[in-house]
Amino acid sequence: MALIETDALMPGVRQLRFNRPEKLNALSSPLLAEFDAALAAAEADPAVRVLVLRGTGGRAFVAGADIAEYRGNRRAAFIAYSLESRRIFDRLERLPKPVICAVEGYALGGGFEIALCCDIILAAEGAQLGLPEGRLGLSPGGGGTQRLTRAVGKFAASEVMLAGWRLSAARAHALGILAEVVPPEALGEAVLARARACLKIAPLAQAAMKRLIREGPDAALGAATSHEQEVLFRLYATADGQEGVEAFLDKREPQFRGE
Ligand code: COA
Repeated sequence: MALIETDALMPGVRQLRFNRPEKLNALSSPLLAEFDAALAAAEADPAVRVLVLRGTGGRAFVAGADIAEYRGNRRAAFIAYSLESRRIFDRLERLPKPVICAVEGYALGGGFEIALCCDIILAAEGAQLGLPEGRLGLSPGGGGTQRLTRAVGKFAASEVMLAGWRLSAARAHALGILAEVVPPEALGEAVLARARACLKIAPLAQAAMKRLIREGPDAALGAATSHEQEVLFRLYATADGQEGVEAFLDKREPQFRGE
């Protein structure tokens, strides 16, 4: 199986592992299709509250598109793959549940683009993140030029793409891409700590805030803050909104039901 799926980490948390370790988990077309189906399933399943993405083998999260598929100037297949990866990465970014990305080793090209579509990125020491497509005479096509630039600004993004510079875990942390950098053996627990925290946030509020975070930077500030308040007023009227307030005042844990 090129993608390993498990719910065993913790109730409410689904983990997907990219599993082509002999090719540093490069995204072949079949792997991409499996990933798409797994995202659709995670989105549709109310029992899944948090999604975790990780690689296998310890050397890479994902080392990008499978370059072997690019050989031979097969233009139609190349365009189809690029359109498909863009659609799937957009689906990942829009998933109305928090997505935690755990990077060990290389997150390059499409691997870095996937990470940039997640909500919280954690990494093991030694991780390297980059968009090296220019070295192939190509450019990123899964949103990398835009999402990285929005995340870190023009200058850091230019170094990554125009110089093909790989970001060390320490640099990516300093740039605000990585939430935390831990020793490799501590990555699993760092993921679980974030997942546990995500499970305490009311699901409707979480989905609404995720959308505000995603859409805000493309909107005028006044429109975005108006939208923010519309969201808050809607959440205040939900059962979970009332439950959260009551539970705080009763000094008990809230029981959120996503209503
Ligand atoms: N597509 C296809 N195969 C890939 C791959 C990719 N993106 N990345 C790595 N592999 C394969 C290698 O070809 C090699 O396969 P082989 O053992 O059959 O020869 C195997 O994975 C191990 O990689 P290797 O290059 O031997 O490891 P390394 O430690 O010397 O280098 C990298 C690691 C990540 C620096 C190097 O593999 C690399 O540059 N990969 C391509 C990254 C890239 O350009 N991604 C964007 C693609 S658009």
